[in-house]
Amino acid sequence: MNIILLGPPGSGKGTQAAKISEMYDIPAISTGDMLRESIAAGTELGRQAESFMSIGELVPDEVVINIVRERLKEKDCEKGVILDGFPRSIHQAEELDNILEEMGKRIDVVLNISVEDEEIIRRLSRRRVCSRCHNVYHLDFKPTEKQGVCDACGADVVQRADDNEDTVKHRLEVYRKQSEPLIGYYLKRDVMKDVPGDEPIDKVMETVSHLIEAS
Ligand code: AP5
Ligand code: MG
Ligand code: ZN
Repeated sequence: MNIILLGPPGSGKGTQAAKISEMYDIPAISTGDMLRESIAAGTELGRQAESFMSIGELVPDEVVINIVRERLKEKDCEKGVILDGFPRSIHQAEELDNILEEMGKRIDVVLNISVEDEEIIRRLSRRRVCSRCHNVYHLDFKPTEKQGVCDACGADVVQRADDNEDTVKHRLEVYRKQSEPLIGYYLKRDVMKDVPGDEPIDKVMETVSHLIEAS
């Protein structure tokens, strides 16, 4: 089962990807998390990516496509994957089609999560993420059991560098311009399903799992 999660920043892609991953025992691949790992490791790739991510711009297509191409070759991807935050441009989507075709695979379902802009700002301004395992929290909607500490691994939870209001607004503009056209791209294929994302986390998960079962 190969699943793509589409949706604006803060729509809940990471939150739902973690749940789907657990439920279907397939890896969730987040290009955002992979790029943040490169930044934390201080690699050349990380330095390059940081200059784009810190201002809410997309990292160049070829950089991200190469990361995903390599990741998809790993053994744990054989049963399927959840792609969170990739593709994010028509060029990335076309390249993904080529990569999957070479591997004899295809996309089974594209889940398009939609959320109002006001709610996005509310979510991202109070989001916290684990500095080690990338678990996602929210101070009001999904708090950690112990303040400031990840439930899963015990590391500190932090605010993402791009979660300030100005950068979030720019990320939303970038999403509308460069990523939203993907909805039309996948609609032509009959794999696109709409997920109303303004509901509570478990309700969204219910919709998501029904749509996956039906695909
Ligand atoms: P990335 O890390 O992918 O960020 P994003 O797309 O902006 O999405 P977010 O991670 O902010 O939101 P999400 O949808 O995962 O929501 P979450 O589940 O956390 O990308 C970051 C940057 O990396 C990009 O700007 C770009 O520079 C670069 N990049 C990444 N991929 C790239 C690519 N393919 N090409 C080029 N560049 C790329 O939820 C948000 C908050 O809301 C959390 O606090 C959560 O607890 C809460 N929440 C979730 N669901 C609910 C709910 N139903 N009700 C209430 N609260 C909820
Ligand atoms: Mg995310
Ligand atoms: Zn953790």
